[in-house]
Amino acid sequence: MTAKPRLLTGDRPTGRLHLGHYVGSLENRVRLQRQYESFFIIADLHTLTTKPEPNYIREIPSFIREMTLDYLSVGIDPDVSAIFVQSAIPETYSLNLLFEMLVSVPRLERIPSLKDMARDANMDTMPFGLLGYPVLQAVDILLPRAQVVPVGRDNQSHVELAREIARRFNNLYGEIFPEPEAIIGDVPLLVGTDGQSKMSKSLDNAIYLSDDAETVNRKVMSMFTDPKRLRATDPGTVEGNPVFIYHDAFNPAKAEVEDLKERYRAGKVGDVEVKKKLAKALNDFLEPIREKRAYFLAHPTIPRDALMEGIRRIQIEAQATMELVREKTGLSYSAGLLTERMDIFESAE
Ligand code: TRP
Repeated sequence: MTAKPRLLTGDRPTGRLHLGHYVGSLENRVRLQRQYESFFIIADLHTLTTKPEPNYIREIPSFIREMTLDYLSVGIDPDVSAIFVQSAIPETYSLNLLFEMLVSVPRLERIPSLKDMARDANMDTMPFGLLGYPVLQAVDILLPRAQVVPVGRDNQSHVELAREIARRFNNLYGEIFPEPEAIIGDVPLLVGTDGQSKMSKSLDNAIYLSDDAETVNRKVMSMFTDPKRLRATDPGTVEGNPVFIYHDAFNPAKAEVEDLKERYRAGKVGDVEVKKKLAKALNDFLEPIREKRAYFLAHPTIPRDALMEGIRRIQIEAQATMELVREKTGLSYSAGLLTERMDIFESAE
C-alpha cells in the first residue's frame, strides 16, 4: 500500500461557521478527505496575532467546540481525518522559531493580507507576531509535511511563503519538507444576506450552519434583492442578486430556479415567492446538518474523542518531523543536553 499524499488546512476559531464557509471550503474538504491523508487545524494561536487579550482567549474554548461540531456535522469524518487544536502541539512553537530565521522582514512586509488584518483590527502598528502570521502558517503546513493546502485566494500568498521556507530549509540543512501546493477554491466569496460582498460574522450578514429553520426564514425574508425593483411587476435583475446567488448555490431544483429567474426578469414574480422557495431550499439543505449537530451535542464524547484522536495523530507526525529537524540542523545536541550529552565538557581540549 502506498501512502496517500497529505493535506492540511484549517481555520481560526472565531465562532460558528456559516454558508460562506461551506461553499468556500468545507464542501471541498469533505470531498477531498479520503483522497488525501487529511489534517484540519483549528488555528487558535493565529487568533492571538490580533487578539492577545485574556478576555478573547477566554472565548476560544467555546469557539473550538462550535467549530468541531460544525466540522463533524458537515461530514468531516474523524475516523478518516485528524482534527486538532494548534496550541496543543508543542512542536509548533519550536519549529516556528527555527523558521523565523529563514525569512526576511521585507519579504513579510510585502504580503498584503497582513496589512489588511492589522487595519481590520484597528492596530496602528504592526505587531511582530502578526508579521509572522504566515511563518506560523508555514509551520502548520510543514509540521506534518503536507503536500496540498486547500485555501481561499486570500491565503495563496501564505502558502507561497511556506514553499519558500521549505526550499530554503532544504537547501540549508538537507531535504525534509515537500514544497506544498495551494489548491485554490474556484468558488468566489459568497455574498452576505445584506448584499455586501462577503458573508461574515463581523458584518452580521451570515446564515449559520447551526441556525434553526425559523431563523433561516427570518433572515431570508429580510434579504437584500434588486434595489431598483419596487413592485413585483417591475422587471428585475438576476445577476448579482443575492437571492438568486443563494438559489444557484443551494437549491438543487434547477428547473424551479430557472422558472423563478425567468419570471423575475419579466416582472412576473414577487420577492416573497422567490424568498419562500429559497428559505425552503436552505432549510432542506441545513436540516441534516442540524440533526447531526444535535446528535453530537447530545453525545459529547464523540467530538471530544475526535479532537483527542486528532491531536494524537498530528503529534506523532510533529514529533517525527522535529526529530528529523534536530538531526539535519545539528541541533540534536540540545535534545540530550540535560542528560546523556554532558560529554561536551569532557571532550574540551
Ligand atoms: N490563515 C488561515 C485563515 O485565514 C488559517 C490557517 C492557519 C491555515 N493555519 C493554516 C490555513 C494552515 C491553511 C493551512 O483563517
